[in-house]
Amino acid sequence: MFNTDTNPMMGNGQMRSNNTADIINDSQTQNKLKLPPLLESDQETSTDIFYTLTTQSGTTAFKDGPLTETYGYNGSYLGPILRIRKGQNVHLTTINKLNENTSFHWHGLKIPSNVDGGPHSPIQPDGTATVDFTVMQEAATLWFHPHPEGLTGEQVYNGLAGLIYIEDENSDALDLPKDYGVNDFPIIIQDRFFDENNQFNYEDIRNINGTQGDTLLVNGTISPYIEVKNEQIRLRLVNGSNARNYQFKLSNEEFFSQIASDGGFLNEPIQMDTLQLVPGERAEIAIDLSDYKNGDTLQLMDGNAEVLSIKIVEEIDPDGIPLPKTLNDISTNFDNVSVPDKEMTFSGMGNMVAIDGKQFDMNRINLRAKKGITEIWEITNLNAMMSGMIHPFHLHGVQFKVLDRNGEIPPLNEQGWKDTIALYPGETVRIEVEFSKEGIFMYHCHILEHEDNGMMGQIIVE
Ligand code: C2O
Ligand code: CU
Ligand code: CU
Repeated sequence: MFNTDTNPMMGNGQMRSNNTADIINDSQTQNKLKLPPLLESDQETSTDIFYTLTTQSGTTAFKDGPLTETYGYNGSYLGPILRIRKGQNVHLTTINKLNENTSFHWHGLKIPSNVDGGPHSPIQPDGTATVDFTVMQEAATLWFHPHPEGLTGEQVYNGLAGLIYIEDENSDALDLPKDYGVNDFPIIIQDRFFDENNQFNYEDIRNINGTQGDTLLVNGTISPYIEVKNEQIRLRLVNGSNARNYQFKLSNEEFFSQIASDGGFLNEPIQMDTLQLVPGERAEIAIDLSDYKNGDTLQLMDGNAEVLSIKIVEEIDPDGIPLPKTLNDISTNFDNVSVPDKEMTFSGMGNMVAIDGKQFDMNRINLRAKKGITEIWEITNLNAMMSGMIHPFHLHGVQFKVLDRNGEIPPLNEQGWKDTIALYPGETVRIEVEFSKEGIFMYHCHILEHEDNGMMGQIIVE
């Protein structure tokens, strides 16, 4: 069993945090959790699927009083869920109806760089682009968000983010909760400040070390609740915040099971009592509610702040349904001691953030790699152990494996496919990376203001 106390980076059980603003829990009323729509395809054949996504500005009712000016995909805030399958040919029409450039980045997809939607692929106002790719990876919960140079933090904060669900034969066969909005919930967690007119006002509150807020939103809902039966429920947790780290636990301090990491299912469910997610990171968890009775409630917490209230409103399952014992078949050679192929440093804070001492330059290729060749990368966060920041490392175009953290085998819940990981201050992490597609891919800190400030580099894969 994985207990967070055994993680060397978490010392006496106190996980480090970059968080600067406290979450206020002052809401009197609870609101039913909003569920992003499952996007209807424009067209679907036995091999291909077609979707259209449009960025737009609008207004959203989050709380009493004035509406908030926001951005969204096919709506006023956040976006729909794109459902795609392994092996499927996907065709996305992307349209920008904002008054500024944007781009459509598919975070976690193993696709060629010309459709990856990074800063090289801006779409002008009223512009459109089509994206075609084949899904070459297993079932997972991924997400999409804008990535225009220097504007990512603002556009995500204003509301641009959506989810991608990949399914495959394994996910079809596994006996897991999969009834959307009934026992399988998308949980996009964000934090926002509302000014006296209920506006986000990103320009004014922008923080060079990551813009945070004092109000939690789940799928754009303040103080959300869900109503469920006393069965296993599945929460697909997505840290969609610009900069806040979350430490999830249940209000009764009971265990839950992590079943998937960023890029797919873990080999087996991992029992956890605390789960940290840094910006950009995802995890799917299952909570066994079979011991609960009609009328009981349980809260998903971030430290002392309530994230989601889970209300049991129907009893069906006095004995409980166990999770499958085996979910996936990922083998990793944690003992691989080969000399690293690449060494990389993350350093600085605020405007001084850099990778390998350099700030992002669109005209500079920082690294090179060969398609289909496995490499070991050794990544060090040079920030001082006691006072520095956690930098969330993210790499485009691949799912990678963590080999070790400061020489220790990673915790069980990180022994699966990852595209985003915490780099703790002073820590060195080794990962195993293999690109399957050619082109220029970004790697960066997923604190979006660090990314916008230049904590990003480019690798060319040939
Ligand atoms: Cu989720 Cu380059 O980003
Ligand atoms: Cu990405
Ligand atoms: Cu950073």
